[in-house]
Amino acid sequence: MKVGLLTGGGDCPGLNAVIRAAVTKGEKHYGDNFIGFLDGWLGAIENKAVELSSARVRDIFDKGGTILGTSRTNPYKEQGGSQKVVSSLQARQLDALIAIGGDDTLGVAAKLAGEGVAVVGVPKTIDNDLSATEVTFGFHTAVQIATEAIDRLRTTSEAHQRVIICEVMGRHAGWIALYSGIAAGAVDVLVPEEPFDIDEVCELLKKRRSEGRLDAVVVVAEGAVPKAGSVSVTSGEVDQFGHVRLGGVGNALAQEVEKRTGFETRATVLGHVQRGGTPTAYDRVLATRFGVAAIDALHEGAAGTMVALQADKIVRVPLSEAVSEPKLVPHDFYETVGRPLFG
Ligand code: F6P
Repeated sequence: MKVGLLTGGGDCPGLNAVIRAAVTKGEKHYGDNFIGFLDGWLGAIENKAVELSSARVRDIFDKGGTILGTSRTNPYKEQGGSQKVVSSLQARQLDALIAIGGDDTLGVAAKLAGEGVAVVGVPKTIDNDLSATEVTFGFHTAVQIATEAIDRLRTTSEAHQRVIICEVMGRHAGWIALYSGIAAGAVDVLVPEEPFDIDEVCELLKKRRSEGRLDAVVVVAEGAVPKAGSVSVTSGEVDQFGHVRLGGVGNALAQEVEKRTGFETRATVLGHVQRGGTPTAYDRVLATRFGVAAIDALHEGAAGTMVALQADKIVRVPLSEAVSEPKLVPHDFYETVGRPLFG
């Protein structure tokens, strides 16, 4: 088989491990040839690609980012975009495509599958918000980075008797915020799924200070919204998949908390630190399992599916199902595991 690979959407620790696994298994086990389209769907539209071989990908499993580059280009938003993708596949005589991405990239893959393209999806996102898989690679690394950062923020918070608001990624889903906040003993964790009451946040902080506890870090997901709707959280810019560029809730919250409590309050926005750098061992292994499973799926006639992790087994789900619903933090999880530990 001649197979194309691409990585789309935000980068994510583990992308290179998927590429290495798929190419190595494909070449050595099935005798496949590979090319990688550059910069996600953009490279597929413009037919820009590089040759891939097991020798080329041998040492990339521990590297962050993606050797193929990525973008948030949506072929269905470009004039004749999807046709150009199909033409690129034909021009390069590709039998199939492996698309590695989150809901946007896989949404495009699902539409192309509907148009007859042989494509298998691999789920990636640090946000862990794809419902068809128990976990996506990249999430574990992001949580580890955020946890270490919050541990550090707690000691400086204590030394200066300051409140620190730590903003982490999570547009619609608060998984990174909740996991890192629980792991690092945050005073409160604010997630997009549970609109927050600023007065309740301030009460928790005042109570903690009155008990003589001087460190205070509140973790807020970038997509968290206040109940009253009084804090502005967006920059107003929108990408090709219709997502508003977020960033701002941490700073807005810090100002509001300082005003209401009188405690000196600072904001730290972790931003892309959470997506960069080397993947954890867990993510390298999960990414490797997905890469191997993707090339196996193509050879076993399972185009049109996404590989996923369920009950620690790799399974295949139809691409259309894979992107139908986001996986959000369940109310019950937040209430029973998160809330009792806040304060
Ligand atoms: O989709 C993953 C993600 O990291 C989100 O948590 C975040 O909102 C978004 O990407 C940021 O994307 P960009 O780097 O394009 O601004």
